Amino acid sequence: MTETRMTDEVDVNSHPPLEEEKRQRYYIAKMQQLVKEKETEIGRPLTACVTTFGCQMNARDSEKLIGILKEIGFEESTDENSDFVLYNTCTVRENANLRVYGRLGHLNSLKKQHPGMIIALCGCMMQEETVVEKIRKSYRFVDLIFGTHNIFKLAELLYQRMTEDGMVVDVWKDTDQIVEDLPVERKYPFKSGVNIMFGCNNFCTYCIVPYVRGRERSRAPEDIIKEIEGLVADGVVEVMLLGQNVNSYGKTLNPPVSFAELLERVEQIHGLERIRFMTSHPKDLSDDLIRVMAKSEKICRHLHLPLQSGSSRLLKKMNRHYDKEQYLALAKKIQEAIPDISLTTDIIVGFPGETEEDFEETMDVVRQVRYDSAFTFIYSKRTGTPAAAMEDQVPIEVTQPRFDRLLKEVQEIAKERCSRDLGRVMKVLVEGMDDHDSANVTGRLGNNTMVHFPGDASLIGKIVSVRLTEARGFYYMGRMEEE
Ligand code: SAH
Ligand code: SF4
Ligand code: F3S
Repeated sequence: MTETRMTDEVDVNSHPPLEEEKRQRYYIAKMQQLVKEKETEIGRPLTACVTTFGCQMNARDSEKLIGILKEIGFEESTDENSDFVLYNTCTVRENANLRVYGRLGHLNSLKKQHPGMIIALCGCMMQEETVVEKIRKSYRFVDLIFGTHNIFKLAELLYQRMTEDGMVVDVWKDTDQIVEDLPVERKYPFKSGVNIMFGCNNFCTYCIVPYVRGRERSRAPEDIIKEIEGLVADGVVEVMLLGQNVNSYGKTLNPPVSFAELLERVEQIHGLERIRFMTSHPKDLSDDLIRVMAKSEKICRHLHLPLQSGSSRLLKKMNRHYDKEQYLALAKKIQEAIPDISLTTDIIVGFPGETEEDFEETMDVVRQVRYDSAFTFIYSKRTGTPAAAMEDQVPIEVTQPRFDRLLKEVQEIAKERCSRDLGRVMKVLVEGMDDHDSANVTGRLGNNTMVHFPGDASLIGKIVSVRLTEARGFYYMGRMEEE
């Protein structure tokens, strides 16, 4: 699903243009030539494999990277034994980081048997100087490294690597640039992420994201609306508005636009059926947003409201700008205004200094709010963040049992919550065939719960009415009903 086609003629014999979008189109055209030459040389098309680690931001970035690669002339592949291999990395927790190093070893052995293979790394991990140093020193077979701020430069950097010797490294510390209108290859024809803002200014003390994604920048509402209109014209029925803290969208625009106002404008887009967004920081969630959600026909009944901890003492140390009581009051206000809302959350166990009492406060919030689901994490020390330098780090022998207790509680509640719509007829967006039963399709309710029911591929991308006939823990079985 290519969203933007390069229709303009580009003169590849002239100098590269200065204006960024034009410049990248120029390098895309240069690369097209180069790829054609290589294809003739080896007698087959060139393949590219992009692997994405991390969050929805990275997933959306990968769609942009794949869009550029396809435009250049690469065939997309899921096989890592490809001519171009790209890892779009995540560094939010150490595990994410270690997985990349582990897989790089395997890539090296593939490259030894694959002449001309180009290995590239990008994404959040590459924004860390220590990582780039380590790769330069110990992973010398890597060809190209770039960061989160210059993914739009892929064609130019690849051109540089293919026409010069040595590793190409281009990582920017930060940027105020937002390059619009480059090609994007969507993973799903019927739904899409849409960046509404980049970066984060919150500096929660455990979190590395503000250091690797830079300062907060919002896209102009006109650009967002234009992009969504284009997506809808191309068959998209559901969008997910993406930002690290969507509730602070638009504060720095001139004139300022609130997230609630943006949602109202997106709601007007004809043909768009569902609106989701992620993530909402509790400190900035406005009454306006609750009001807009409550009356909306398109905004899904799902709110991801990261708690992180239920202990007011730890929340302060985390720099979250709310306490336990404020969070509980907010959750209650939302549940009262939108009774069918699904609340989900993120929770960290074992933040420095966490005592048994602190942990019990978290368990208490979990029991009071009754989340539909929760992502639970063991605190991971990230170099350069304030929490990494805190003295009272909690050992894994203490955090693991707490984590297990929390997970059990969260899952029991989620199971109970999930069955609450049993027997009802609800709208489902069909996303694909059921992996476990080829007579079934799989789709999602507005509140994000999965439903499996008999159907065929012609339903994919459609919103249909389904009676929920059986609750199976975290998902439903169902049967399609006439409208
Ligand atoms: N911007 C989003 C979260 C992005 S990171 C927000 O504020 O909600 C996704 C989740 O990873 C966070 O909500 C947090 O729960 C978790 N996380 C971030 N840093 C972490 C760390 N150092 N250790 C463990 N979990 C972490
Ligand atoms: Fe990290 Fe906090 Fe920003 Fe979320 S809001 S990305 S947790 S610093
Ligand atoms: Fe990971 Fe970067 Fe997202 S660190 S969680 S991929 S913003």
